[in-house]
Amino acid sequence: MSDTSKSTRIGDLDAYLEECFREKPAEEVENFYGSWAETYDEEVSLFNYNGPKLITEAFAKLNVPEDAEIIDIAAGTGNVGIKLKEMGYKNIDALDGTKKMLEIARKKNVYRNFYHMFLGCGNKSPIKDGTYDVAISCGGIGPGHIPYSAFHEVLAMVKQGGLICWLTVNPNEGKEEESFKNLMAELTNNGKWKAVQDPIRFEEFFKKEFALFHVMKKL
Ligand SMILES: C[S@@+](CC[C@H](N)C(=O)[O-])C[C@H]1O[C@@H](n2cnc3c(N)ncnc32)[C@H](O)[C@@H]1O
Repeated sequence: MSDTSKSTRIGDLDAYLEECFREKPAEEVENFYGSWAETYDEEVSLFNYNGPKLITEAFAKLNVPEDAEIIDIAAGTGNVGIKLKEMGYKNIDALDGTKKMLEIARKKNVYRNFYHMFLGCGNKSPIKDGTYDVAISCGGIGPGHIPYSAFHEVLAMVKQGGLICWLTVNPNEGKEEESFKNLMAELTNNGKWKAVQDPIRFEEFFKKEFALFHVMKKL
């Protein structure tokens, strides 16, 4: 039995994933996730999506105090927030570009504040610089999602000495990989952040795709 036969609404899983990672304007991203929001939590199991579990298990090893101010970037329906709350974190805010995803997240009662905004689109952020001890993001950075250039905005939200950590698929080889590497090097060489550890590779992020967990400290 193929994966496709398991899905009713989605149809062809591979085509759906391809659309998910296709570079597109913010309105199209919001349409894509907006029409997925209601069924997202049950349908991600079709892809064997393990992101929230993997990132929070890796985050636990960083020993961040429970009173840390945390922003969950691309929080979606709130599955990272649920796990962080179970771990004892209380001060968690959610940011996402898709209103309908945030509406589902709101029902989970784990977040304090909600920010409906697209990063990397030149919008002015309502978040004061230096607000958070931690910015965490799972499955939200890269093609079809938050552009790497938005690391500047994410850095601004974080306090000096705070952490920026994310788990996502590796950039595709070529222009995408080049832009990721250039930005990482630029921010590192300009003393904006430094790596806390080597990226950790997780083999089963979704389906058979691997993902890397990065942790950077704002300098
Ligand atoms: C795969 S979901 C991940 C949700 C959640 N972190 C999880 O792991 O279940 C990706 C999310 O990224 C959000 N997103 C995509 N591009 C964005 C952008 N430029 N700014 C903010 N959110 C964005 C989408 O709205 C969607 O909710």
